Amino acid sequence: MSLGKLIDKKYNDLSKRIDMQKVPEHIAIIMDGNGRWAAKKGLPRSFGHKSGVSVLKEILKASKKLGCKILTVYAFSTENWTRPIEEVNYLINLFCEVLKNEIEEIHQESIKLKFIGDLTPFPEDLKKVVYSSESLTKNNDTFLLNICLNYGGRQEIVKVAKELALKSSDGEIKPSEINEELFNSKLLTQGIKDPELLIRTSGEKRISNFLLWQLAYSEIYISEVLWPEFNEHEFLKAIIDYQSRNRRFGGIESLPTESFEDSQYSS
Ligand code: IPE
Ligand code: IPE
Ligand code: MG
Repeated sequence: MSLGKLIDKKYNDLSKRIDMQKVPEHIAIIMDGNGRWAAKKGLPRSFGHKSGVSVLKEILKASKKLGCKILTVYAFSTENWTRPIEEVNYLINLFCEVLKNEIEEIHQESIKLKFIGDLTPFPEDLKKVVYSSESLTKNNDTFLLNICLNYGGRQEIVKVAKELALKSSDGEIKPSEINEELFNSKLLTQGIKDPELLIRTSGEKRISNFLLWQLAYSEIYISEVLWPEFNEHEFLKAIIDYQSRNRRFGGIESLPTESFEDSQYSS
């Protein structure tokens, strides 16, 4: 069997195991491992970042194909500014270039693009292409791609706390009116449902300041694969694993009606 046919067969075998009724609507991804992938190949870290772009395109296509509706990806954290300036500048230029090259296709695919994070410190040319991409795609409703740029979960929570404290001191709201719903409505992700699934590549088992509020009850899948080597096949494995989980949200596993009669609560 040729390599191409073998890959198709592996894909078909996996995709058959997916329950299309239980595909997560919103998937969040920490795309990690670019630098290690490049180092493994004896290449500069920038090669890893560049290679990661085509992986994102593949995963975006795969998500749409499965019927998922929202993808939120971590592209640059508030802590990533501590990297060498050359790497930071490389990433900023890469975001700019990729966005310019891909925006037409993204729009044709009816994907709405949204950037989440504080864009203020970025150079004007990146901000310009970010705002024009958001405005061009704002009415697209097939799929939502959120790109987290200069995003930090703690900073987001502090921002909301400040906003609500100000409203309260101005007499616009009472402190007693602050609840989860109001807090949620002020987050950068307002109006977007929380991710059912978080995927992190490269084997790291941490959240690294990503969507701290929104991930409260997300299922977490850690892939050992470095982001530039991640692909549709690995993505399907994450979905299959997610579908095997028992999401309890602090409750108990739901019991079929007949066995409920025999349970410890029926006496
Ligand atoms: C993720 O890959 C991309 C960004 C954080 C921008 P890394 O650059 O963190 O790669 P590793 O983790 O050092 O291998
Ligand atoms: C998280 O990865 C941020 C992004 C993927 C953009 P990092 O590589 O920055 O996280 P740590 O340093 O391993 O926690
Ligand atoms: Mg990393």
